Amino acid sequence: MPVNVCQQLNNTKSLDKESYVSSLLSQMTLREKIGQMSQFNNDNEKLTASIKMGDVGSVINEVNFETINELQRIASQESRLGIPLLVGRDVIHGFNTIFPIPLGQAASWSTEIVESCATIAAIEAANNGVNWTFAPMIDISRDPRWGRIAESLGEDPYLCSVLGSAMVKGFQGENLSDSTSIAACAKHFAGYGASESGRDYNTTNIPENELRNVYLPPFKALADAGVSTFMASFSDLNGVPVTGNSWLLNDILREEWQYTGFVVSDWESITQLITHGFCADTESAAFEACQAGVDMEMASNTYAKNLPSLIQNNKVNIEQIDIMVSRILTLKFDLGLFENPYTRATPAVERLDSFHLDAAKQAATKSCVLLKNNIQTLPLSKTELTSLAVIGPLADDGYEQLGTWVFDAKPNQSITCLNAIKSHVGDSVEVKFSKGLATSRSHNQDGFIEATQLAHSADVAVLILGEEAILSGEAHCRSNIDLPGCQEQLINAIYETGTPIILVIMAGRPITLEKILPKVDAVLFAWHPGTMAGPAIADLLFGETSPSGKLPVTFPRSVGQIPLYYGQKNTGRPPCDATFVDINDIEVRAPQTSLGMTSTHLDTHFSPLFPFGFGLSYTQFEYENINISRHVITMGEFVEITATISNVGYFDAEEIVQLYIRDLVGSVTRPIKELKGFQRIFLPAGQSKSVLFKIHTDELAFYDRQMKRTTEPGLFNAWISSNSDTGLKTEFEVV
Ligand code: NOJ
Repeated sequence: MPVNVCQQLNNTKSLDKESYVSSLLSQMTLREKIGQMSQFNNDNEKLTASIKMGDVGSVINEVNFETINELQRIASQESRLGIPLLVGRDVIHGFNTIFPIPLGQAASWSTEIVESCATIAAIEAANNGVNWTFAPMIDISRDPRWGRIAESLGEDPYLCSVLGSAMVKGFQGENLSDSTSIAACAKHFAGYGASESGRDYNTTNIPENELRNVYLPPFKALADAGVSTFMASFSDLNGVPVTGNSWLLNDILREEWQYTGFVVSDWESITQLITHGFCADTESAAFEACQAGVDMEMASNTYAKNLPSLIQNNKVNIEQIDIMVSRILTLKFDLGLFENPYTRATPAVERLDSFHLDAAKQAATKSCVLLKNNIQTLPLSKTELTSLAVIGPLADDGYEQLGTWVFDAKPNQSITCLNAIKSHVGDSVEVKFSKGLATSRSHNQDGFIEATQLAHSADVAVLILGEEAILSGEAHCRSNIDLPGCQEQLINAIYETGTPIILVIMAGRPITLEKILPKVDAVLFAWHPGTMAGPAIADLLFGETSPSGKLPVTFPRSVGQIPLYYGQKNTGRPPCDATFVDINDIEVRAPQTSLGMTSTHLDTHFSPLFPFGFGLSYTQFEYENINISRHVITMGEFVEITATISNVGYFDAEEIVQLYIRDLVGSVTRPIKELKGFQRIFLPAGQSKSVLFKIHTDELAFYDRQMKRTTEPGLFNAWISSNSDTGLKTEFEVV
């Protein structure tokens, strides 16, 4: 068999990466170059033939390792050049072992947890031949109606940057060429989370200053952290869809940030430039996307069809194509694919690795957020209980607890809450179960009779409610974020029995809970916790460990408050309790001036139901003695802020200590608070710890009116706190 070009290059041992890529490039035909820029879905009937012809750079959605190995064999042995394939898959929160949804992982505020989830996901995916994931999604998400908030790391630029970078580290490992590493993708560049009305794929209008100060920082952080690829968003950004947005992809990503990885389109987003009304036909769509700097086209084939004539007619120049193709080849080189494109052929996993399951349990445990706990409701004590009613459509459903973006896991490998609670209490407590409702959306209340009877005869009712997996994720948005179906009625019915209620919620987004809060004694918000939901939740309910998660996103009282986030601007008339007027207190035909004249709604309090950063524990933490190293800091220096945190309760527990600042006066108005640091600390009962935050004046910078990143001199407030709505305050001046 003749030796192909890659085999020849592989035999030339001394070639460094640049020489390898440029030698390869110099031997490629135009068609083969465009082939590298094309990603095929695995169901494309021409896939195998196209790989042989060199028309395919990447395959998406193939996960059978035998098929992948065969496709890699065809690419590397039967195509003229022998270039192996990138094999992409949405490995979002686990592959075989499912971890909490990303929004849940973000509630752990733990870089270790987020990194370990991604490390294990990469091991399992790579084992199956996948070498590229489309994660992390680092779209700032401030609209809980948007289904994709589940896939995000929440509302805050700093938290998203730190946790997103940890996720990249987990996926990509120490070295991309390790057999357990896969390439990551920062998506969706940029602004997708601002889709109007929380409706997926909708238009976004984000002023440049807001874009730079809020939406872009996580992407910059991931570019700096070495993320292999970026994905251009589906969305229309200020009138120019991102897939054709040269300002964003060239001027910012390439010029300003000097990003050298490659950019992939989103699914058919190049052809959608026509649907957006931005291009008239596929030729123009291919032209705009290529000029904007989209290196690879996902799923559609406008590049394959139109780039040859665009180049022939001198509309696109070949030097540009060469740069784009070399970015793709460079990633293949970094992944070690030219040396070995094959995966270890292990049989399909029948049992999940116990180490992976432990990590999944740990992640789920640290992601749960305790929102309410009436005195002595939680933790439960199995020695004091005789019977327990477990109620709800999500209590014993191994599929729904996994959440969105799960393709490669087996729901029968999940451990449900019902099973975990039963095994936790053994024979000592009678555990009775009733679904109450067939699904989370169900309106049929026939099951209420059985559910209320069980609750009536039990010491405690544990209600496991929320949203099924399908109610969040891509294209799964809601206009109303109450508990769906008749779940509120179910809570009301159980409430009437007088039995204490512990509400566990699994959901892909914040849920509006104001009406039901008074009816329940405790609320544990578990997101969609994944494979090990049951053991994690059972441990928390029975006090094996204390809840320690904190909200990565604000919980509104009602949907009408959206967007509601802690980092809002002060406005010229900020709301306050002294002037707040409730709709029910307004006198009929009273003069308008009695209504406070501040930035509020009449029919709901202006505060959130639960602020960003909020989460209770089984113990109490006391914050004291805030101290600042100096009150006047020269530009270019650090300031140190400390506080003493004491565990004054009776439970050993972890606390997430947060640092916020406020820049009091800016040439562009600044948010009322900005997260600048956090630490997850462990404190045994009765112990104290001094927590230190060190801040450099550069970390106080923002984009000004000239879009220059700058730290302006002036006064700052700083808080060390347990959530965004409280804290010990100090101040300093930057000179
Ligand atoms: C569309 C989604 O927007 C994107 O996030 C995903 O990675 C691709 N489809 C591939 O499935």
